Parts: sequence; structure tokens; C-alpha cells
Amino acid sequence: MRAAVCHAYGPPEGVKVEDLPSPPLAAGRVRVRVRAAAVNFPDVLIVANQYQISVPPPFVPGSEFAGVVGEVADGVTGFAVGDRVFGTAMVGAFAEEIAVAPDAIRHIPGDADDRLAAAFGVAHRTAYHVLRSVARLEPGEEVIVLGAAGGVGLAAVQLGAILGASVTAVASSAEKLAVAKAHGATHLVDRSADDLRSALKATLPDGADVVVDPVGGDLAEPALRSLRWGGRFVTVGYASGAIPRIPLNLVLLKGIQILGFEFRGFAAKVPDELERNEKELMELFGARRAVPHIGAAFALDDAAAALRYVADGRAIGKVVLDVSA
Ligand SMILES: NC(=O)c1ccc[n+]([C@@H]2O[C@H](COP(=O)([O-])OP(=O)(O)OC[C@H]3O[C@@H](n4cnc5c(N)ncnc54)[C@H](OP(=O)(O)O)[C@@H]3O)[C@@H](O)[C@H]2O)c1
Repeated sequence: MRAAVCHAYGPPEGVKVEDLPSPPLAAGRVRVRVRAAAVNFPDVLIVANQYQISVPPPFVPGSEFAGVVGEVADGVTGFAVGDRVFGTAMVGAFAEEIAVAPDAIRHIPGDADDRLAAAFGVAHRTAYHVLRSVARLEPGEEVIVLGAAGGVGLAAVQLGAILGASVTAVASSAEKLAVAKAHGATHLVDRSADDLRSALKATLPDGADVVVDPVGGDLAEPALRSLRWGGRFVTVGYASGAIPRIPLNLVLLKGIQILGFEFRGFAAKVPDELERNEKELMELFGARRAVPHIGAAFALDDAAAALRYVADGRAIGKVVLDVSA
């Protein structure tokens, strides 16, 4: 099979597409013929060995995919050869085949196409768990979303609006903000043109209830300062490359709650909420209310270019690899 391979940690350009043997089908696993995969910022971090977990090279990067079940190991129930499925894994998705445990995949609802299904597994699930369970967003609340045209950010804009909140999107260009607006943002703030604190104050004079922050760096503190008394700040990631340090007097003065989200910990510690949220989210996807925006598509042979595109913060919504093409 063709696969993108990381032989040594480093920049995206080190990832090369080559022929590999198909992954072995161990007991209890399902082989999926991948048709589309999506690129996430964490893939860039895993290739650079800057992620929370190290994956020893050589490995095939890629953490979300959609395709068709090609083989099912003895004893596995719920999936049959030919089923259309989508799923997530730590690595392995940038390849024509991936072998996974059945709990890593689910059937594609309705006739959703492969790209949309491949792009739904990480960003929308992250954003929904963050809004629903961590921030506990209520209808009518004001939520600020940083990196609002990125994968997690745009999903948070769309889902925040679906949950009945008023969403203030913060992004670095008019093009990115236009996409956030089309996905339900009420207010738009260009962080490249304005002093962020002043712009947020002008936009939300009474402050916000919630901040969703997948960016960190210099954006975190002005966004936190824009919360009203009792506001909730959720740290989700550091796409800027810098982990912010927040003066705790800001937290004290406004009774702010700083909260964190990390997928594996959340899944392990609050499985009941995870299950409820996933069920709600799959209903939204099946009804086409929550749908990823595909901003760019690359061939599998161009996996390195796709990773570079995401690493440089150019992605608008999701970036996909057309694997079967
Ligand atoms: N906690 C979790 O479980 C979890 C799950 C998924 C992802 N994450 C993390 O969430 C973050 C966002 O992931 P994503 O897939 O949404 O990424 P993405 O699609 O690349 O979006 C990241 C956004 O960050 C902004 N940004 C600011 N400075 C940047 C820089 N120097 N380089 C790149 N982007 C920059 C960009 O928006 P502007 O240009 O508009 O500023 C960009 O749209 C990552 O750190 C990822 O690791 C965490």
C-alpha cells in the first residue's frame, strides 16, 4: 500500500510517501481501506515530537480517516466487509489501509461523503466536548473563539451557535473571518489589525461568559481579560507555539474559572458525558447541522505539503487528503 512515512522527527518536509506492506490484522481488529484522511495540528506536533505523547519513528502519521471496511478479524462484531466507516487513531491514517480496534470507528451516517466524514472525528468532537461539558455553555451566553477559522476553532463557532450562544470569532484575516461568519459567528474580530483587548472590549462591552482557546501565546491573556465576572476560560491547545502564563490576580478579581480539555483524559475520566455528547454530535452530523468546512484538499502523495499548510496556520476549517485518488 502507499503510505506517508515519518522516518525521523522534524518538519513536515521529512514525511515521504512510499510503498509499505499492509498493516497486519491482529485479533480483534478491523482493516479499513482509507479513502480520505484529514490533517490536524496535532499531526504536525507528533511528526516534530512536540506532542504530549512520543511515537517512535518510523511511523505513518494521520489521526482521522474515512473509508470502507476491507477485512474483519474473527470475533469482531458490528462491522462487515464493505461498510462505510470513519474513525480516529493516534497515527496511521495517511495510508491506503489502517487496522484499528472496532471502538475506533463508527458507521458513516447517511450518505455523508468521505471527505466530510474523515474531517469530523477530531475537531468537532473536541469543540463539542469543550463547549458542552467543560465550558457548560448555555443558550444566550457570549463565547469568544480564538483561532476561529482553524479546525477546532471553526467547529467551536458552528457548535457554539447551534447551542444557542452568541459567538465572537477571532482570526487573523478577513477571509478567515468571513468563513467564521458563514458558520454562525455573530461578531468578528481581526486579531492582526487590532489590539485584541481593545477590539474585544469594543465588541463585547459587558464581557464574555466563555473563551475557547486553541491558540495560546499572546492571544490568551487579552481574551481572558475580556471575560465578565465568573467567566470560564478553556485552554484547548497552543497552535501559536507558546504556552501562555496568566497573572492569577486576573482570575481572582473576576472569579474566573480556568479549565482544560485533553481528549484521552476526558474520555477516560468522564465516559458518561463523552457518550452523551458523542450521541448528540452524531445526530447533528447525521442531520447535516454540524458539518466540517473543507478548506483545502491534497493528494496522499502531497501529505508533507498538507502538513506544512496546517503547520503554517493557513488552514481554513479542515484540510483533507484524498487517499483513494
Ligand atoms: N486538547 C485536545 O484534546 C486537542 C484536540 C485537537 C486539537 N488540539 C490542539 O488545538 C490546537 C488547534 O488545532 P487545530 O487542528 O484547530 O489547528 P489549525 O486548524 O491549524 O488552527 C489553529 C489556528 O491557530 C492560529 N494560529 C496563531 N498562531 C499560529 C501559528 N504560529 N501557527 C499556526 N497557527 C496559528 C491560526 O488562526 P489565526 O491565523 O486566525 O490566528 C490557526 O487557524 C492545536 O494546538 C492542537 O494541538 C487539542
